[in-house]
Amino acid sequence: MRLVKTIVISNRKGGSAKTTTAVNLATELAKSHSVLLLDFDTQGHASIGVGCEPSEGVGAHSVFLGTTLSETFIPTVHERLTLSPALAFFDVYDYSDLRGMLKSRFKREKIADFFDYCIIDTPPTFDALLKNSLEVADAVVIPFVPHHLGVVAVGQMMRAIYQSASFAQRELAEVGILPVMFNPHIKEHQEALERVRTSFGAEKLFSPIGVDIKLSKQFESQEPAVLALQRGKGMKDYGIFAQELLLRMGR
Ligand SMILES: Nc1ncnc2c1ncn2[C@@H]1O[C@H](COP(=O)(O)OP(=O)(O)O)[C@@H](O)[C@H]1O
Ligand SMILES: [Mg+2]
Repeated sequence: MRLVKTIVISNRKGGSAKTTTAVNLATELAKSHSVLLLDFDTQGHASIGVGCEPSEGVGAHSVFLGTTLSETFIPTVHERLTLSPALAFFDVYDYSDLRGMLKSRFKREKIADFFDYCIIDTPPTFDALLKNSLEVADAVVIPFVPHHLGVVAVGQMMRAIYQSASFAQRELAEVGILPVMFNPHIKEHQEALERVRTSFGAEKLFSPIGVDIKLSKQFESQEPAVLALQRGKGMKDYGIFAQELLLRMGR
């Protein structure tokens, strides 16, 4: 079984709970492991989710400008969780060839030796940021809202993952599919889950995350839902997801 270190949260569809998943997974794992959360979406919402702000000086995207990754590290709401914040306003299209740069930083700085896990939140675009993330992925989690376009987006993301692995001639990352904002009483949601099961394999599906307004509110309070004292549905669902992920990854 593969020992997974870097988990990329990705889906090119916006609003599919990538950031919510990255923040809660990273914080849940940080309860008993050392974790690096890398915020690769320049909007910096994952940074906000762990009590920080996107950076205007040095951030995760600074690795494309010659900065080391470790120089970007800052502490968060959880002592075992380190953040590499988004660099606000970094424009990937100002640069031509950024391929392999994150991978090279990971290698040179031996990132895998310093953290048990690295979680990467990605932007909803198929650009150099997503490609750099896929190049370091041991596992990719695709969160999706269970409706028709949500299922289509999962298929498109699967193709991007295959394409990235074949371009880099590397082993395919483990892929897991996470239904989010799931309501078991909505027929369309059940049908969408069934389609994902048949198209991509039941073993790829994680238990779903239900709708919970606390998962939205956490960005206002800058405290990840999984750290809330009052147990909520979202907190419970993300706890189960993290356990399933660790089990599946052989940890
Ligand atoms: N399970 C959930 N229940 C309720 N609201 C959610 C849930 N998951 C995400 N949200 C909300 O949905 C919106 C999109 O989520 P977000 O994580 O920002 O998606 P993405 O990063 O894919 O664009 C946010 O406002 C977020 O707070
Ligand atoms: Mg996001």
